[in-house]
Amino acid sequence: MVEDQVPKKELKHKKTIAILTSGGDAPGMNGAIRAVTRTALNAGYHVLGVRRGYHGLLRGDIVELDSRSVSDVLHRGGTFLMTARSDTFASEEGLKKAVDMADIFNIDVLVVIGGDGTARGAKAIADKGVPVIVIPATIDNDIGATEYSLGFDTALNTAIQAIDKLRDTASSHERCSVVEVMGRESGYIALGVGVASGAEVLLVPEKEFDFNDDIVLTLIKDRNAGKQHYIVVMAEGVGLASDMAKRIEERTGIETRSTQLGYLQRGGAPSYRDRWISSLMGVRAVQAILDGRLNRMIIHKNGDCHDIDLEQALAAGKRPLEDSLDMADTITI
Ligand code: F6P
Repeated sequence: MVEDQVPKKELKHKKTIAILTSGGDAPGMNGAIRAVTRTALNAGYHVLGVRRGYHGLLRGDIVELDSRSVSDVLHRGGTFLMTARSDTFASEEGLKKAVDMADIFNIDVLVVIGGDGTARGAKAIADKGVPVIVIPATIDNDIGATEYSLGFDTALNTAIQAIDKLRDTASSHERCSVVEVMGRESGYIALGVGVASGAEVLLVPEKEFDFNDDIVLTLIKDRNAGKQHYIVVMAEGVGLASDMAKRIEERTGIETRSTQLGYLQRGGAPSYRDRWISSLMGVRAVQAILDGRLNRMIIHKNGDCHDIDLEQALAAGKRPLEDSLDMADTITI
């Protein structure tokens, strides 16, 4: 964590940086690829793009990146290098192939952009001797070491816009609208979306809830207080919105509809925040390499980005949600 304690490795003879995106795509990945590429080229590095994540690395699906290759991508969602989830990679044999490919393509440092699983994959490669830098990117924003992972802001804005629309129709029909947002194991999206869209009920996998007390009673009390429409936001890790809507309608008598926002949340043009932070993270990644700080994760903290030891980053627990959940409770009726 303390920069002075990090052994500086000499990289003078090493000149190739390869970039890959892996796991679920996230808006802002392109901005990070662009910033790494241009900063690295500017510093005299040769830059390669590994296509289709770790899967592509094993197959040597690797192309040269120049300044023009990253033109016209900053404003685009997804990742132009494409991504994949690779099971083979996690095996000893897969890791050996990855190291071989790094050797064949003379890759000195691999910049890996993705979520928690991707970062753990990067650590496994680093343990085999290929230096890595990780840029956190996942709409789930569930990497504990960093306050921000690329894609979260855009995903929240997309979901909020959708819920504003759902509120119009729920209000016209005096219905309850149950909205399922992404987050298989984490409730950060649901929390952000729930607070920002003024949801009456907010359900996350991190906190147990009682169907009668926390949902049925809340909605009935709201109805008695004169509410004419209701929004329930739930993370996908809590269950299916369609099941929840059925149960709510049966128990409360309030007409209820469900919407699963699904992959809509992963796409779309990156927000200003994702464009800015992806650019900053990309620059910081190359700065770390230039300074000889390797096997690091770029994190966002207090409005700036810097690098910390990858192992320590992976050991950080999840950021707690409790305070924000309490705040959400207080400001809903
Ligand atoms: O990008 C993160 C995430 O959206 C999770 O919330 C979700 O559970 C998962 O990815 C699903 O992605 P896929 O279907 O691509 O594996």
